[in-house]
Amino acid sequence: MKESLVRNVFSNVASSYDIMNDAMSMGVHRLWKDHFIRKMNPTPGAKLLDVAGGTGDITQRFLEFQDQQGDSASSVHMVDINPEMLQEGERRFAPSRWQADGRISFTVGNAENLEFIPDNSFDVYTIAFGIRNCTHPEKVVREAYRVLKPGGRFMCLEFSRVENPLLAAVYDMHSFYVIPKMGELIANDRASYEYLVESIRKFPPQNEFAQIIRDQGFTTIGKGYENLTFGTVAIHSGYKF
Ligand SMILES: C[S@@+](CC[C@H](N)C(=O)[O-])C[C@H]1O[C@@H](n2cnc3c(N)ncnc32)[C@H](O)[C@@H]1O
Repeated sequence: MKESLVRNVFSNVASSYDIMNDAMSMGVHRLWKDHFIRKMNPTPGAKLLDVAGGTGDITQRFLEFQDQQGDSASSVHMVDINPEMLQEGERRFAPSRWQADGRISFTVGNAENLEFIPDNSFDVYTIAFGIRNCTHPEKVVREAYRVLKPGGRFMCLEFSRVENPLLAAVYDMHSFYVIPKMGELIANDRASYEYLVESIRKFPPQNEFAQIIRDQGFTTIGKGYENLTFGTVAIHSGYKF
C-alpha cells in the first residue's frame, strides 16, 4: 500500500523534482548534500551504492568529489524504486564521461530487498531523503549491512527533528502551509507535497534511528549522527566491522 502510494508520488513529481527541492529548501539541500559527500570523504576507487538515488544528486557529487581527488576509478550503482525518477537520472548522466566510461549503472529496485546485489560488494552505501518513504526502515538498513564489504560505511541523509521549540514552530509553519502551497503553485500537485511533509513527521527521531542502525549490526561513532540546520536534517552513519 505505502509502496504504490510512494511510487505515485514520485512519478508525479519526477519532472519537477529538482526545481521543487530548490524552492522548498531555499537551495539549502545543495549545501546539505555537499556536506554529506565531504563527510563521506571516499577513498580512491570506492564503489558506491546510491539507493533511492532518484535524479542523481548524490551520485553526481560523489563522482565530482572523486574527480577532484584525481581518482578516475570510482563507480556508482544507482537504485530507485521509481522508473521515472531513475530515468531523470539516466538522462542527466547520458552526456557525461562517467557514463561513457561505464562508471555508472542503474537498477529499478526496492531498498528493502536488494536481491540483485551480492553480499559484501560495496565500499559505501548512501540513502538520501529516501528511507522515510520506505515501509520498513529496519529492512533497508539490514540490506545495507548485507551488501557492504567489511569495513564499509552506511550513510543516510534524511529530514529529522528540530529540537528547539521556537524553531520547531517556525519549521512546522513552513512544512504545513508553505510547502503544500509551493507544490500547488510550482508542480500543480498539492497532495504529493502534503504526503512528503507527513512522511517527515512519521520518521523516527535522530536517536531512535541511530539505534535501529546499531540493531542491524553497524558500529556507530559516538551517538551516530550529526544534525544539520538545527536538526531539520541529520546525517546518520555506521560502519560494518
Ligand atoms: C526525495 S527523493 C531523493 C532522491 C535523491 N537521493 C536526492 O537526494 O535527491 C526519494 C527517492 O526515494 C525513492 N524511493 C522511495 N521508496 C523507495 C524504496 N522502497 N526503494 C528504493 N527507492 C525508493 C523515490 O522513488 C525517490 O526517487
